[in-house]
Amino acid sequence: MRPIKIVGTGSYLPPKVLTNFDLEKLMDTSDEWITERTGIKERHIADPDTATSDLVVESTYKALENTGLELKDIDAMIVATASPDTIYPSTACWAQKKLKIPKIPVFDISAACSGFLYGLEIASSLVETGRYRNVLVCGAEIMSKIVNWSDRNTCVLFGDGAGSVIVSASEGDSGMLASYLGADGSLAELLYQPAGGTQMPASQETIDKKLHSVHMQGREIFKHAIRTMEDSAKRVLKEADLTIDDIALFIPHQANLRIVEATCERMCISMDKTYVVIHKYGNVPAASIPLTLDEANRTGRIKRGDNILFAGFGAGFTWGAMVLKW
Ligand code: ACO
Repeated sequence: MRPIKIVGTGSYLPPKVLTNFDLEKLMDTSDEWITERTGIKERHIADPDTATSDLVVESTYKALENTGLELKDIDAMIVATASPDTIYPSTACWAQKKLKIPKIPVFDISAACSGFLYGLEIASSLVETGRYRNVLVCGAEIMSKIVNWSDRNTCVLFGDGAGSVIVSASEGDSGMLASYLGADGSLAELLYQPAGGTQMPASQETIDKKLHSVHMQGREIFKHAIRTMEDSAKRVLKEADLTIDDIALFIPHQANLRIVEATCERMCISMDKTYVVIHKYGNVPAASIPLTLDEANRTGRIKRGDNILFAGFGAGFTWGAMVLKW
């Protein structure tokens, strides 16, 4: 077991809520279609003057309140996001400026919906070296600014929000029992934002063709997501020498309720053991797992000593799973 511990969690959702009924008034869609195909009923949407780093800041304050630690106790900060403030510098740098925590190392991870699990793995490794005491990992997204609001295939799926955790050394029984990460860049074009980088710099044409927004092949992603989350979760259970019965709570990435249900069915995990928030937040890529974890923590759904299973999947493709003894 790797001797690390999540000592605090926090999350933040922008106050504005956009329901399926609101979307019905904006495009050719229906609450019935969105609910049946995705499980989503509503999502939070950031104001035009809010940047992803603002959500990082708010969720970081909440995570600190939850621990009794102060900003000066954070030694490093990792932000996972698919909707950064700018291509560079990192969203972590913008958040660092707002939090006024100069000098410490801060950086972003680009692994879409798997970004939080990638960040947790790196934070755990930093803490294990003994050179860092408290590492903040935040998953934060403002997807509402990078979806194409005239494409009903994608825009109804996503939401905005952030979740943060603070990873510290564990002196007790808590720890990372097993972890696994993977990626397959050959599938990159199934889910991506085509323009704005060096492959296709911004031009009038890219703007006219709306190439600065999320492009995806939903059905292909759907199949890969179920198979890969199942495989990753089974791997870490095997590595930790545990069965589903030893797991108190399963927190999967939440892109679609049908993906979550199918993964649970294939793994024989009951939905009672699975914490679901997609109906009220939509798919909040890198923020999905930490947001859900924070809610489970604050509502008393997690107790010290519980084994928690995480599984994630996202653009890249990237994926991962972990078992944490809380
Ligand atoms: N309202 C009404 N009708 C719609 C909507 C909508 N919002 N969106 C699509 N439709 C229509 C389509 O046009 C299609 O109509 P057609 O048959 O006349 O062409 C019909 O509904 C069915 O479309 P499908 O693609 O077959 O629908 P499906 O059941 O596969 O659900 C969905 C689509 C929800 C996108 C699903 O495939 C999915 O969730 N895939 C995974 C997506 C995902 O997880 N993406 C993010 C990954 S996370 C990350 O890293 C960012």
